Amino acid sequence: MTLPEYGTEAGARLEGAGVAEPGAVTVVVPTFNEQDNVAELLRRITEAVPGRLPCEVVFVDDSTDSTPRVIRELAQDCPFPVSVLHRDEPAGGLGGAVVEGIKAATSDWVVVMDGDLQHPPSLIPELVARGEADGAQLVVASRYVKGGSRAGLSGGYRVAVSRASTWLAKGLFPRGLSGVSDPMSGFFAIRRAAVRTEGLRPDGYKILLELALRDGRLRVAETPFVFQERFAGESKSSLREGLRYLRHLVELRTASAMARMVVFGLIGLTGFVPNLLALSALTGAGLHYLPAEVLANQAGVVWNFLLIEGLLFRDRRRHRHWADRTARFALLANADLVLRIPLIALFVQEWGLAALPATALALVTTFVLRFAGTEALVYAR
Ligand code: GDD
Ligand code: MN
Repeated sequence: MTLPEYGTEAGARLEGAGVAEPGAVTVVVPTFNEQDNVAELLRRITEAVPGRLPCEVVFVDDSTDSTPRVIRELAQDCPFPVSVLHRDEPAGGLGGAVVEGIKAATSDWVVVMDGDLQHPPSLIPELVARGEADGAQLVVASRYVKGGSRAGLSGGYRVAVSRASTWLAKGLFPRGLSGVSDPMSGFFAIRRAAVRTEGLRPDGYKILLELALRDGRLRVAETPFVFQERFAGESKSSLREGLRYLRHLVELRTASAMARMVVFGLIGLTGFVPNLLALSALTGAGLHYLPAEVLANQAGVVWNFLLIEGLLFRDRRRHRHWADRTARFALLANADLVLRIPLIALFVQEWGLAALPATALALVTTFVLRFAGTEALVYAR
């Protein structure tokens, strides 16, 4: 990562603009190829903010065009400090960029906004004022409260995707998002002191979800805004970002051990499908059913392994080599089968259980053991 470039020494920067004063704001703008938007953005921020509260602007840039150069030139004529943090490695995408910006912020308040003028800079002072007045830690600019609208969301397709994404997030986190009508918004103010950046795992566009849900509840307020048309250039969102959003939701939802165990179980259930398909193919090809069972079980194991790697423990893979993980996972999955029969015998003979409850209990026991074993031995943090 290239270090931030400020036109001046950091100390002078703070004193000059008063951004270290309470109530001041650091505007964090993630940019990816926005060279034709940044001048207008800085012009409108200049019009709207410094007269009302001390400010600085931090661009966190992953561009491949001349956006950072354009910003550095413009910075010289701005009445407040403007910096560009250009990242050579865009970890976490848009969300990762915002977290870097929050880390670099020096004011009490951080306002996060897009660089394409879909978010009106004239609202920056209002977001902060609202947070101060309500004692809120997070103020979301919402398209879905009275006075707001998504005017600039062009096309039925994008409206439908946006609506479905909102429903999905609200459905998965009814409590965590109870005060947030527009969890997809990329325009919000947050108190710097309310963010624990070390705990965050941003993944793509939905940084607001990450901040609102990752650790505990923030005191939230909302204020309406009208989502504008893009000023220049094109949106960078894509199908890939959509998939990333789904992955991010799973990651947030499975942050607790109980939720992880439920997902682990659901994935295990889907494993019956490849297992049975393989069994019928193998016996159909004339194999004796016993070796066929053992082989078919491996189809289920592979299926479960891929889903668990891709969804549940995505961020815990790096601690072991993939071959090591595969071997351990397969061992645990098969130990499960081997352990089940002696367990059933134990429950029947020692505890006097009937065969059916003994089998059910053995299934639950081996499941919990396998989950705990997978967490501790394959994906230990
Ligand atoms: N640093 C960085 N890295 N910035 C990025 C990246 C990235 O990988 N991808 C996008 N950006 C920047 C863009 O340059 C822009 O300033 C801002 O993030 C938003 O990107 P757009 O491509 O304009 O997003 P959008 O208009 O499709 O979506 C916006 O509106 C949605 C509401 O409909 C975002 O704010 C979404 O979060 C929001 O849900
Ligand atoms: Mn946009």
